[in-house]
Amino acid sequence: MLEKISALTEEVSNVKVSSKEELESFRLKYLSKKGLVSELMEEFRTVPPEQKRELGQKLNSLKVFINDKYNELKDNLSSGSASDFAGIDLTRTATQFPVGSRHPISIIKNDIVRIFSDMGFTVVEGPEIEDDWHVFSSLNFPADHPARDMQDTFFISRNPLDVLLRTHTSSVQTRTMERNQPPIRIICPGRVYRNEAISARAHCFFHQVEGLYIDKNVSFADLRQVLLNFAQEMFGPETKIRLRPSYFPFTEPSAELDISCDICGGKGCPFCKETGWVEILGCGMVDPNVLEACGIDSSVYSGYAFGMGIERITNLKYKVKDLRMFSENDVRFLAEFESAR
Ligand code: PHE
Repeated sequence: MLEKISALTEEVSNVKVSSKEELESFRLKYLSKKGLVSELMEEFRTVPPEQKRELGQKLNSLKVFINDKYNELKDNLSSGSASDFAGIDLTRTATQFPVGSRHPISIIKNDIVRIFSDMGFTVVEGPEIEDDWHVFSSLNFPADHPARDMQDTFFISRNPLDVLLRTHTSSVQTRTMERNQPPIRIICPGRVYRNEAISARAHCFFHQVEGLYIDKNVSFADLRQVLLNFAQEMFGPETKIRLRPSYFPFTEPSAELDISCDICGGKGCPFCKETGWVEILGCGMVDPNVLEACGIDSSVYSGYAFGMGIERITNLKYKVKDLRMFSENDVRFLAEFESAR
């Protein structure tokens, strides 16, 4: 019997299987009720008592060994033996995996954020559902200003507090000034809403990045330098800027910033309406009334603010003619920007 046991051990240790069928015949041959192990167990009964101890141990180890072998063969099979790949050509080139692309608005937003971060601005975000105070009153809008009108602002409720969708991210600046004392140097990217008829040139929502810097002795010259740096980082080192006087309730003086048209290089073309300049943002020195409304002493501190539409900048970079493309999510349009990053 000892010989049988060692012969079986030897035999089993050399077994290899390459299919489920072969694995099953292994099980039947050795481990089933009528298998060789059971047969040995049967024989064991007839063994004289003085040999029982030794043989019993040997037989048990054999059983354990064959069981382990069976599990090992089974594991190898399920982790993929050659026969599992029969008919599959492993050398074939893989089919192309569809990769998503970044939305052009996100690409440009990230660029704007990067440029201003490099100049020491921190990103701050705020709620899209706002109240009258943060969007209008704190920003020096007179009570009868047309922007509050139903024409421009989406009101959610009139009572008891005016609840509305923010029309600009200047509200995030107000919120920041209320909670912090200068120096404050922030940019506020985000989505804004205005009640406009949807067309190629206008939409009821769009995206802005607004900036704010408050400290002692901040001047218009500081504002101009920061904007020049931004324009040249965004549109190239040859870009020139021009500031035109303008009006915003929350800044005094106020200006609009034009950059030299990068299509005609400033000579004049249909894109810049033959002027050589295209407008990109609004800016100005923060009105002392706004500082006071937010708890900042305007006799000590001054500051500048600016705000731009991300769609506008994106249009200038990528020449997208119809604003609606940005929100239609047509993958043929979106895929064009895959290689942009
Ligand atoms: N809030 C203005 C807008 O939405 C932009 C702006 C911001 C202008 C800061 C001047 C200063 O159009």
